[in-house]
Amino acid sequence: MTGAAPKPLSDYRENEMFAGQVGLVTGAGSGIGRAVAEALVEKGMRVGCADIDAAGAEETARKLDGAIAITMDVRDQDSCEAAVEAAITEFSRLDALVTAAGVQVREKKRADEFDRDEFARIIDVNLTGTYLSARAAARAMIAQERGGRMVLIGSIGGQTTPMFGIAPYTASKGGVTMLGRSLAYDWAQHDIRVNVLAPGVVRTPMTAASFADPEKYRAFLDHIPMGRVAEVGEMASVAVFLLSDAAAYMTGAFVPVDGGWLT
Ligand SMILES: NC(=O)c1ccc[n+]([C@@H]2O[C@H](COP(=O)([O-])OP(=O)(O)OC[C@H]3O[C@@H](n4cnc5c(N)ncnc54)[C@H](O)[C@@H]3O)[C@@H](O)[C@H]2O)c1
Repeated sequence: MTGAAPKPLSDYRENEMFAGQVGLVTGAGSGIGRAVAEALVEKGMRVGCADIDAAGAEETARKLDGAIAITMDVRDQDSCEAAVEAAITEFSRLDALVTAAGVQVREKKRADEFDRDEFARIIDVNLTGTYLSARAAARAMIAQERGGRMVLIGSIGGQTTPMFGIAPYTASKGGVTMLGRSLAYDWAQHDIRVNVLAPGVVRTPMTAASFADPEKYRAFLDHIPMGRVAEVGEMASVAVFLLSDAAAYMTGAFVPVDGGWLT
């Protein structure tokens, strides 16, 4: 026999899951957002990889066939509209949005010790930025009249208080939990599904400093029945599911992916 063996049929099915569809991923320059962008492209979606970190977005998109880098700031409504426009200009439509842009507190502090600016910075990116990204995408999806799907990356901190010292972050993520439900409710009439994927503790640049401290790392593990932290691919695979037709009747859900932390 000459030449490469034919690909098994299952591979074609996998790769064609999102064939012809277009997605926008915010926070795609790093961590969970990058892994989501990679997974969506692997399943046949064309993806706008958006991030405030232009170099990070470039690095993600460069490795992916059918992806472009978009520099955007989720705090700025014009920038969110422009990011949606850039994806549509390049790929002609928009079917999916994943909001993975996010920030954590710079330094853990007791709740009364945060100043207004630090509190506002977290809310601005994590909550207002999620809303502005989703609103820009929804406006395009409603105009297209083809429906759409969104996954908002929240956190288990949107349902519980996972640890000491991050009050602005948990407040922002609690907001994302309810924002997701509200968007799902309002946009169901336009066939736009919205679900919140709530990671537990994931190995990314956001958690790298805590993981480097053995005491902090052990404190995380003490909460996780599965006894380990997650890898980014374990978030991306659930995002793929939520965006796929396998989740066709799911909207407004809060989906913890946390190794059992919330049990
Ligand atoms: N890593 C975890 O353990 C964990 C747990 C729960 C929730 N999350 C959430 O997952 C999401 C992704 O986090 P991650 O761990 O991949 O972190 P990360 O720091 O690796 O990635 C976050 C990305 O968001 C981008 N970003 C920040 N501000 C932005 C802005 N204003 N506009 C556009 N992009 C911006 C950053 O440049 C970065 O590329 C965040 O919302 C985070 O809160 C992470």
